[in-house]
Amino acid sequence: MARLRGSANVEELLATGLRNRWYAVCPSSFVEPGAMRRVTCLGEHWVLFREPDGALHMLADRCPHRGAPLSPGSHLGNRIACAYHGVQVDGSGTVVCVPGMPGCKMEGRRIVRSLPLEEFAGAVLAWFGDEKHQQPGTLVPPEYLRDEAVSSFLCYAEWDVPWRFAAENVLDPMHGAFLHRESHSMFAGSTTASFKIRETDRGFYFEKTDQQNTNFDWVELCRTGVDWVNLAIPYPPSGGPGGPFGVVGMVTPATATSCKVFFWRYRRVQGWQRSVWRFLYRTTLEERHWAVLEQDRLMLEAMALDADAAEHLYQHDLGVVRVRRLMRAEAERQVAELTDDGPGTRGGIGEGDLRVAPPSGSGSPAGGQSLRVADAPTVVQVP
Ligand code: FES
Ligand SMILES: [Fe+2]
Repeated sequence: MARLRGSANVEELLATGLRNRWYAVCPSSFVEPGAMRRVTCLGEHWVLFREPDGALHMLADRCPHRGAPLSPGSHLGNRIACAYHGVQVDGSGTVVCVPGMPGCKMEGRRIVRSLPLEEFAGAVLAWFGDEKHQQPGTLVPPEYLRDEAVSSFLCYAEWDVPWRFAAENVLDPMHGAFLHRESHSMFAGSTTASFKIRETDRGFYFEKTDQQNTNFDWVELCRTGVDWVNLAIPYPPSGGPGGPFGVVGMVTPATATSCKVFFWRYRRVQGWQRSVWRFLYRTTLEERHWAVLEQDRLMLEAMALDADAAEHLYQHDLGVVRVRRLMRAEAERQVAELTDDGPGTRGGIGEGDLRVAPPSGSGSPAGGQSLRVADAPTVVQVP
């Protein structure tokens, strides 16, 4: 149960997820009005409960009395009651009643952690702030999920892999031409490529320099209060009208060895084309897409937990290296800020402080573009 206290260290933070950002928690449909649900995110257990009018709350799944989970308790409309001794807690985390000891000092105190929530495009997102950042930062949802001209489906899965494996998988477009070669959408194009990184004001593109619109040829990492990726894969004619198949992806750490993945599959379609897309997706394409996603899951779950401890990277792995640096730099800054013992205490870590930091024992990236500190990313300030 890492809460990122002063004792938290960089490795722990990297394992269970950086704080001070929004993460997708679960599909909204998982918590209907009047329902409760336990979820595990960033190494902690939480309970979601939705009031009959739709208001949703997310509390630490830990009763303030003696620490029993709240999630097996009773849903009382605007509060939940612990099953152990009946203590009642509302959505703000305030104890509203201690039935066994009326007038108990716990009553009226806000002593259960409650997370700020947002819902969009069928998903619940929560702000996971550390002890110095309880107030939520700005959240800018992916524009593709706010665009009336875009029609999307949310695909959600839980994988038994460290979150970094899932995140790095989508920063690695080249696997499309190999792992997914037999799929309906990634059979075409070259099996060799040269890549480049293109900076944006919210992240970067990692893209092939010699092939576009043929396979999984580019991905954009976006950091808008929540980290997400955007990518597009050309559809064959059998995919119907609507142009490329877009994917917005998010990864949320569950534990140090498991994660949740959210993929919104979308197309820019309106009118009758929208109807055709939605029909084709439900009847034909969804099953094929799940098959592709299963190829990813099976590959990642088969990898050793320390698979990245002895790598020999090459030019196609620049995107992976870049995102690792970003995460490590931010983890160092967050820990330093909490412990007041480092250069990142206030101003963040500058590029000169960044290191190419593959796990110990890993080989140097080989071939193609060398990886230098000069390749270090812009450090994005945590909101
Ligand atoms: S542990 Fe929850 S009421 Fe006692
Ligand atoms: Fe894949």
